[in-house]
Amino acid sequence: MKFETILVKQVGNLATITINRPTKLNALNKATISELHDAFKNLNKDETVKVIIITGSGEKAFVAGADIAEFSDFSEKEGGKLAAKGQKKLFDYIENLSKPVIAAVNGFALGGGLELAMACHFRVASDNAKMGLPEVSLGVIPGYGGTQRLPQLIGKGRANEMIMTAGMIDASKALSYGLVNYLVPQEELIPLCEKLAGKISNNSSTAISNAIKAVNAGFKTNTDGYKEEIKAFGDCFGTPHFIEGSTAFLEKRKADFK
Ligand code: COA
Repeated sequence: MKFETILVKQVGNLATITINRPTKLNALNKATISELHDAFKNLNKDETVKVIIITGSGEKAFVAGADIAEFSDFSEKEGGKLAAKGQKKLFDYIENLSKPVIAAVNGFALGGGLELAMACHFRVASDNAKMGLPEVSLGVIPGYGGTQRLPQLIGKGRANEMIMTAGMIDASKALSYGLVNYLVPQEELIPLCEKLAGKISNNSSTAISNAIKAVNAGFKTNTDGYKEEIKAFGDCFGTPHFIEGSTAFLEKRKADFK
C-alpha cells in the first residue's frame, strides 16, 4: 500500500510506522489520520507482524498536534464530528488493536500527538521529548481522548494541571509521572523500542491480544474488567499457543510460538 504522509517498514515480525510530515512537525491532518488507520488495519491483519512501533520523522517532533490549519474555521457540529471520527478511526482503534503498539516519542508530543502516544499500549521517550495538551490555549479542549487517558495514566490532579496550564513537561517529568516507561538519549530510542518489541514477540501473540482486551475492559464504563479477564483467560485455553506454552514448560524447553 502506498502512503503520502507516513512510512511503513517491516523487519522480521516488527513493523515501524513513521509519521512523515517533518516540515509541519508531523501534525496530524485528515490524510495522515486516514493513512494511519489503513496502516494499522493492514498490520493487524498481517500474521507476520507481532509488534508495531510508531514514531515521528526527524529529530524534533513525534507529532506536534492535530493540524490546526484544518479546523480553524470549524462550526460546533464540525468540531464534534472531527473528534468523534478521529477517536473511532485512530485513537480507540489503536488502543483496541490486537497487537501491541509502542510509541517512540522522539520530540514534541503535543495535543493530538500526546493523545496518539497515550492511545498506544506504552511509551518510550527520548531525552529531548516535550509533552503537553495545549488545547485550552487555542480555545478548545483535547478531543482525541486526552481528557480521559491522561488522568488514567498520571492521575487526575496532574492531568488537570497539564490541561489547564496548557504547559509542556519534559521527558524526565513524564518519566516520574509514569507517562513514559523509559527515557533514553535520542539515538537509543528506536533500539530500546526494538529490544522491548523483541521480548514481546517471544511470547504468545494470542495471549497478548487477550491481555489487551482484559486491560482495556477495566477502563470502560459499564464493563466489568474482572469478568472480561475471566472470559479472556478462558479463551486462551485450547489455543495452539496455550498448548505449546504449557507443554514447553513441562518439557523444560523454550516455547516456540509461530
Ligand atoms: N498544526 C499545524 N501546523 C503545525 C502544528 C500544528 N499542530 N505544529 C507545528 N506546525 C507547523 C508550523 O505552522 C510551521 O509551519 P510553517 O513552517 O509552514 O510555518 C512548522 O510546523 C514548524 O513549526 P514552528 O512553530 O515554526 O516550530 P517551532 O520550533 O518554533 O515551535 C512548537 C514548535 C511545537 C512549539 C510549535 O510548532 C507549536 O506550538 N505547535 C502547535 C502545538 C499545538 O498547539 N498543538 C495542539 C494542536 S490541537
